[in-house]
Amino acid sequence: MATATTAVMSLQVPSSSVRSSASSFLSPSNAPAVFFVPRLFPKNIGSFKISSGRCRGGIRCLLAPEKDSEYCTKVSRNANIAKLQAGYLFPEIGRRKVAHMQKYPDAQVISLGIGDTTEPIPEVITSAMATKAHSLSTIEGYSGYGAEQGDKKLRPAIASTYYDGLGIDEQDIFVSDGAKCDISRLQLLFGSNATIAVQDPSYPAYVDSGVIIGQTGGFQTDVEKYGGIEYMRCSPGNGFFPDLSRTSRTDIIYFCSPNNPTGSSASRNQLTQLVKFARENGSIIVYDSAYAMYISDDSPRTIFEIPGAKEVAIEVSSFSKYAGFTGVRLGWTVIPKELLYSNGFPVAKDFNRIVCTGFNGASNISQAGALACLSAEGLKAMSEVVGFYKENTQIIVNTFTSLGFKVYGGKNAPYVWVHFPGQNSWDVFAEILEKTHVVTTPGSGFGPGGEGFVRVSAFGHRENILEASRRFKQMYK
Ligand SMILES: Cc1ncc(COP(=O)(O)O)c(C=O)c1O
Repeated sequence: MATATTAVMSLQVPSSSVRSSASSFLSPSNAPAVFFVPRLFPKNIGSFKISSGRCRGGIRCLLAPEKDSEYCTKVSRNANIAKLQAGYLFPEIGRRKVAHMQKYPDAQVISLGIGDTTEPIPEVITSAMATKAHSLSTIEGYSGYGAEQGDKKLRPAIASTYYDGLGIDEQDIFVSDGAKCDISRLQLLFGSNATIAVQDPSYPAYVDSGVIIGQTGGFQTDVEKYGGIEYMRCSPGNGFFPDLSRTSRTDIIYFCSPNNPTGSSASRNQLTQLVKFARENGSIIVYDSAYAMYISDDSPRTIFEIPGAKEVAIEVSSFSKYAGFTGVRLGWTVIPKELLYSNGFPVAKDFNRIVCTGFNGASNISQAGALACLSAEGLKAMSEVVGFYKENTQIIVNTFTSLGFKVYGGKNAPYVWVHFPGQNSWDVFAEILEKTHVVTTPGSGFGPGGEGFVRVSAFGHRENILEASRRFKQMYK
C-alpha cells in the first residue's frame, strides 16, 4: 500500500476560531487531526496539518488514513463530491458552536445560527400524531408502506389549502420527508447535464446538490464560485432581485422567496418577470416557498399565483418552519401536469418514477401530523407559531437598527440580514461569537454575494432573543 504523505500548511488562526472542521465522526480520536480548507472559512484559518494521504495529485485526499496498515477499498471517491469545498455550512456552524462551548464551558451560548425552530409543536398537531402512533399498535389501525406520492387525504388537503383556485390539484402534489430531500431528488431528476442558476446568496442545498450530481465544474477560488453555475447576484443595490437582463439561460433556475438568507421576498411584478424570463428561455424554475407563511405584505405565497407559471415551475415547500417540523419531517413538491420536457413528456411522470425508486413515502405519523396542520385549528396554531417568530424578528431588526446597522429582510421572513460593509463575514461571525456567545451565520457561507453580511435567525425562545439583543447592544454600543 502506498505510504501516506503529509503536508503542513501554515495559516493564521484567529484566537476564537475553531481548529478543526473535519467531521468528528470521520476522524478517529487517536488519528492525527485532518482538516478541510473550505471556502466557508475565512482566508486566515490557522496552522493546520493537512493529510494528502495516498493522493497522487497533491493536497486533496483530506481524510486519507495515515497508517500504512489501514485497509483501503479499491473504490474511487466520487469526483463530484471531491469538488465540494467544505462540509455543509450548517454542520460547520454546529462544530464551531461546540468548539466555542468547549472553550467557554460556563458561557450561555445562544444559537441564532442554523435556523432551527425552537418552539413546541402545537398540541392539536402532536395529539394527531400520537393517535396515529397508537393506532399502529392495533390490528385495525396498523398500516405499512403507504403511497409513495403521499396520503390520499393529505394531497388534496395541501392542494386546497395552499393552491386553491390556482389550477393545482392533488395529482400534482408529491408529499415528502422535507424540502431539502426533495431538492436532491429534483437534482436526480434533472441529471448531470442540466445547467443551473441560483440566487447569490442562496440556501446552500441547491449549489451543493448540483455539484454532487455533476452539473458543475470545479470550485474557482478566485471568484469563490463553481464553474458552470449561473450565480444571480441579489444585493441591496438591486432590491435582492437579480438583473435578469444580465442572466444567462440555464435549464433550471432555483429561486427561493421569501429568501433564505436575505429575508427578502419577491413582489408579484418581480415574479412575473421571472416567469416571463423562464418562458422565453424554456427553463424550469424550482421555486422554494419554505417561508411563504411568513409573508406579511402582498408578495405572492406561491409561484403559481403568477399566470403562466404552471408550464415552467416546480414548487418545493415544507411544514418545517410553520409547525416546528424540522425534526418530524414533512414537506411537499408541486409539479403541475402542464410542465413538459422539450419532447413533450410530463416532468411529473419522471419525478413519480424517481420518488417510487428512491423513496417509500413519508412517515405515516408525520403525515397524520400534516393533516392536523391543515385543519382549521392547526392552521390557526401554525399562524400563532409563525407570529411568535415574527415578533422575535422585529426585536432583532430593532436592535441592529438602533445600533446604526443597515438591516434587510425580517418583514416577510424569520431572517435578518445585517450588513457589515467591507468586513469579512467569518470574521464578524467569530467576533460576535467570541464577544457575545451568540451564534449567527456568516453571509459568505451562502455564496460570494453574502460576503459582508451576517444572517441572524429569529428562531429562538423569547428570553434568548432578548438576551442576545442585550448582548449585541453591549458589544456595539
Ligand atoms: C430555503 C429552504 N428550503 C428548504 C429548507 C429545508 O426544509 P426541510 O426541513 O423541509 O427539509 C430550508 C431549511 O432551512 C430552507 O431554508
